Amino acid sequence: MTMKMDERKTILTGDRPTGPLHLGHYTGALANRVRLQREHRTYILLADLQALTDNAERPEVVTRAIDDVLLGNLSVGLDPEVVTFVLQSGVPELAELMQIYLNLVTLARLQRNPTVKDEMQEKGFGADVPARFLAYPVSQAADITGFRADLVPVGQDQAPVIEQTREIVRRFNHLYGPTLAMPEALVPAVGARLPGTDGQAKMSASLGNTINLNDPPEMVREKVMGMYTDPTRARATDPGHVEGNPVFAYLDAFDANEARVRDLKDRYQEGRVGDVAVKRHLLDVLEQFLAPIRRRRADYERRPDDVREILASGTERGRAVVAETLGRAREAIGLPRPARRDSHPRRVNLAAGMTKEEVCNAGDDRQL
Ligand code: TRP
Repeated sequence: MTMKMDERKTILTGDRPTGPLHLGHYTGALANRVRLQREHRTYILLADLQALTDNAERPEVVTRAIDDVLLGNLSVGLDPEVVTFVLQSGVPELAELMQIYLNLVTLARLQRNPTVKDEMQEKGFGADVPARFLAYPVSQAADITGFRADLVPVGQDQAPVIEQTREIVRRFNHLYGPTLAMPEALVPAVGARLPGTDGQAKMSASLGNTINLNDPPEMVREKVMGMYTDPTRARATDPGHVEGNPVFAYLDAFDANEARVRDLKDRYQEGRVGDVAVKRHLLDVLEQFLAPIRRRRADYERRPDDVREILASGTERGRAVVAETLGRAREAIGLPRPARRDSHPRRVNLAAGMTKEEVCNAGDDRQL
């Protein structure tokens, strides 16, 4: 590989659009993205095709969530002037790359992938797993290598998927010559995972224990005041437990005043402050955090055309990058160059006044 002139690296990261973004997404992924966005060239992929792997019967769950996830990313301060948002289904070249990589992976290896195993269990698939679900790490390898990403910020749970991408890259480059860039996972420090409001280890929509970035204040209040705390504590004067108490996990994550958090923890453990007081404080802290996020989101929601344009233009730019990678991959394998064709033949030809039939036939102009 040649040396890079540009010191900036390329980051690719992705979200499955299945629902609103929540505080767990923020601590686990979004905060890191915001921090890195000006340091490196960042692509954020809205992985709608991946989200369809377990929503094929409910595609509207995915199609509806696309805007929501885009707005969620914008609302936390990702700047569309520096970050490129790409819709996965808008880049069909990714599917072709995936198809090439599927030959380089065994079924047994996919079944052994710890992330896939966990998720299959979570979703209760058993042997009836959709093939595309089992193969999603291969799709993700296409995403990552397609954008020629150096760095892939992901949560700890996704680390095995990046490892599998690295194997595919090694295998491809070994078989066909050095072609693909080797990516590296950027896993946030431990502790970035936020528990649910019910005290479960993970905040997740399917567990119904989230505080969403676009929840209105009344709803945040209701969720915070109803949070799980320390079940062993009957009175405010009982000594309380801080570990495993999500209220303190949230304070650790969102209250920048560490001394104040330490003081609250001390008093809690000594039975000198009640649950309600701590929750009220957490509510203040969260409201300070969420207010500007809601404001930014409302700003974007007032400009739906601009939001649409952010995704459309980003997808177009992203597509050009992936098409270039696919070209290199095809060339490395020795596949013949496909005939060039207009990426929008129908629209262009219609403008030229052709009948519908002529247009359909005109799409079929490959020279084999
Ligand atoms: N699999 C990731 C998730 O479930 C989403 C994703 C898709 C992704 N493509 C990616 C993440 C590429 C990083 C890089 O969260």
